[in-house]
Amino acid sequence: MATINDNYLKLKAGYLFPEIARRVKAFVDANPDAPIIKLGIGDVTEPLPKACRQAMVDAVEDMGNRETFKGYGPEQGYLWLREKIAQQDFQARGCDIDASEIFISDGSKCDTGNILDIFGKNNKIAVTDPVYPVYVDTNVMAGNTGEVNEKGEYEGLVYLPISAENDFSAQLPGEKVDLIYLCFPNNPTGATATKEDLQKWVNYAQENNAIILFDAAYEAFITDESLPHSIYEIEGAKNCAIEFRSFSKNAGFTGTRCALTVVPKTLMAKAADGSDVDLWKLWNRRQSTKFNGVSYVIQRGAEAVYSEAGQAQVQDLVSFYLENAKIIREQLTAAGFTVYGGKNAPYIWVQTPHNLSSWDFFDKLLHTCNVVGTPGSGFGAAGEGYFRISAFNSRANVEEAMKRITAKFQV
Ligand code: MLT
Repeated sequence: MATINDNYLKLKAGYLFPEIARRVKAFVDANPDAPIIKLGIGDVTEPLPKACRQAMVDAVEDMGNRETFKGYGPEQGYLWLREKIAQQDFQARGCDIDASEIFISDGSKCDTGNILDIFGKNNKIAVTDPVYPVYVDTNVMAGNTGEVNEKGEYEGLVYLPISAENDFSAQLPGEKVDLIYLCFPNNPTGATATKEDLQKWVNYAQENNAIILFDAAYEAFITDESLPHSIYEIEGAKNCAIEFRSFSKNAGFTGTRCALTVVPKTLMAKAADGSDVDLWKLWNRRQSTKFNGVSYVIQRGAEAVYSEAGQAQVQDLVSFYLENAKIIREQLTAAGFTVYGGKNAPYIWVQTPHNLSSWDFFDKLLHTCNVVGTPGSGFGAAGEGYFRISAFNSRANVEEAMKRITAKFQV
């Protein structure tokens, strides 16, 4: 009989968001008329920018003509898209990133998991706590951890707590680690990192020959001009960091699927025989073997993000969600809640009222306000007592949700 990857048996029951969906479905089945408002998973609600839609329509027409039809594209993505990204997202901010170091993919969630294919089994891995659960679960699946304990922590991972006490900025690991996941603006806390904060991590990585896996999926929400959008704005980062970016949250591509990963050609790691190996080559080999690229039509849509009209429309979308975040922050604060984030990020990290556990507050909010959020403990043990509210929804829904919550909860 075939055997399984036993590492999957170590995983906690369900991935966080399907577990939330399961609970919401059970509630809706029992209360079919409940006017549910979802501020849980960070899924966008507003339509795709017009520039992107038009580019996709034109690209569909290209596919209808023998002369312009496209079959398999380059596994790394079309050069015309990668060049625009290199110029506008990186070089324009002073980052020395070349188009050849950019790999187009169908999502940062996939890439942050898939990247483990090119790393060895004996790496010491650090994650913040709370953290985007994909980083942890994919390491469990890959066999990079032991069993989970009663706190929900996996043996073998190094957890770096982030909380109000340390201003949601993790301390450097007390022990030597090889891979470090960082996410700024942060999911789930909405915290940001200054250049000095990131320099500290880059210095650590260089001193310890570690690699930083930097998730910048929410960089478009940075409005504070002093904050870095890319880890490559930090000196030395090209020698120690891989960066993940996405079109999901800025241009509304959660259902359309397009993202990118930057693997600088200067990035090296050790083979078992002690020799230095170029990570770009490995990732290129991995992608060429296991991935056939994002569709031509979608890449044309992503390219339109970099047009003048596209840039303005994306900015409008980002500003719209940031205004939602402001409304959430202000109304909850006025009702006495303690809130964090939501200024340069689409997530608001809320202390649960009256010492409720994260899941108890989730259930109360669902049952009494018909509002769905995300329990902080779902992101890690240190998220207990917190709750994440997403600003991705219509203005009317955000306002209605705040009206219901502030009517029921005065803290
Ligand atoms: C979230 O809610 O944390 C995000 O939507 C997850 C994701 O982007 O995969």
